Amino acid sequence: MKPELLFPRETIGRRVKELAEQISRDYEGRELLLVGVLNGAFIFMADLIRGMSIPCRVDFVRVASYGCGSQSSGEVRITKDLETPIAGRDVLIVEDIVDTGLTLSHLLNVLRERQPASVRVCTFLDKKERRRVPFTAEYVGFAIPDEFVVGYGLDFNEKFRFLPDVCMLKDIA
Ligand code: PRP
Repeated sequence: MKPELLFPRETIGRRVKELAEQISRDYEGRELLLVGVLNGAFIFMADLIRGMSIPCRVDFVRVASYGCGSQSSGEVRITKDLETPIAGRDVLIVEDIVDTGLTLSHLLNVLRERQPASVRVCTFLDKKERRRVPFTAEYVGFAIPDEFVVGYGLDFNEKFRFLPDVCMLKDIA
């Protein structure tokens, strides 16, 4: 199973910097709380925050979806919650990938109940074809086709997260 290059690290670096600049402009004069969704978002979040020019705080959540293999049952639950109270704060959820949209729909519902001043989503990758619920992220690094991708934090059975480039894995079924 050989990963095929999709986005080289230089392309990723340029796009992540653009996103950080856009977010910094949009939140000028405010203090943002970046909420990383573990585990996949850790590399994207680290690069994104270093490209920002406004003050940011960070916190993390971990969300588990029930189901087997790559098929989600649609039920999600928070297995590691935020440690920061978010009432009245501007919150930006940072994800590595949106696929069916189930994880983020659920997470948004949970976080909105806590009455943040605002909550938006920044995802590194967006696989729109796979949506099972309507969901649109405000900030998207790259829209991608329905291919299995790894690297830059994304895994296959916990492997390949360390790859600096984003690669496609063919023939995994
Ligand atoms: C991935 C990704 C999102 C979720 C997106 O997490 O990081 O959280 O799946 O899928 P959805 O749009 O279909 O809900 P995963 O469960 O693979 O965990 P990981 O981040 O630890 O790799």
